[in-house]
Amino acid sequence: MKQILWRVGLVSMTAALFLVAQPPAAAKEGGGFKNLQVLDPDIEKDQLKGIMKGFTKMLGVKCSFCHVPDEYELDDKDNKKKAREMIRLVVYLRQNVDTYFPPDTDPNKIGCWTCHRGSAEIEVFVPEEED
Ligand code: HEC
Ligand code: HEC
Repeated sequence: MKQILWRVGLVSMTAALFLVAQPPAAAKEGGGFKNLQVLDPDIEKDQLKGIMKGFTKMLGVKCSFCHVPDEYELDDKDNKKKAREMIRLVVYLRQNVDTYFPPDTDPNKIGCWTCHRGSAEIEVFVPEEED
């Protein structure tokens, strides 16, 4: 089961990076979203839904962690603002995969799960000092 969830997330973030890199096409209809600043503003509804579902799985949260239900365009939750920065972070890591990851790492395998592993709260591990 877990295996499947990861894969869903993987596909979603692959889509996300693809959409970030793509210039908005004039001919495209788009999903009519109001406040997309990082993702392609003309993204299709199904694709956006896939990415958002990926976030809930990769972080182990509900939509309401980042959104007021049915007011998705608002930026009133800090977690949504943080998530926007995190998307930029993932795009940066993917673009600089050769600098930060072992040779032949597939950039599409870098995503929210790389650090979050199914949980929003990250426990930062700091080794104890020896005396
Ligand atoms: C970890 C945080 C996070 C979670 C969880 C999350 N979202 Fe989002 N959502 C965002 C961010 C960030 C944006 C804005 C992206 C941008 O600026 O390009 C967004 C944008 C949206 C938008 C576009 C609104 C508009 O008109 O601009 C919709 C719709 C949406 N989310 C629905 C959902 C749904 C439904 C869920 C649950 C399945 C969900 N989101 C879960 C972070 C999240
Ligand atoms: C390189 C590691 C890394 C990656 C990749 C990453 N995060 Fe994070 N994230 C962190 C760390 C560390 C924190 C805690 C730091 C903080 O709260 O300021 C955090 C905190 C957050 C928070 C705030 C959670 C809270 O409870 O305060 C959200 C929301 C979030 N990340 C969303 C995302 C999303 C969505 C993605 C994928 C697009 C992502 N992150 C990718 C490391 C990462």
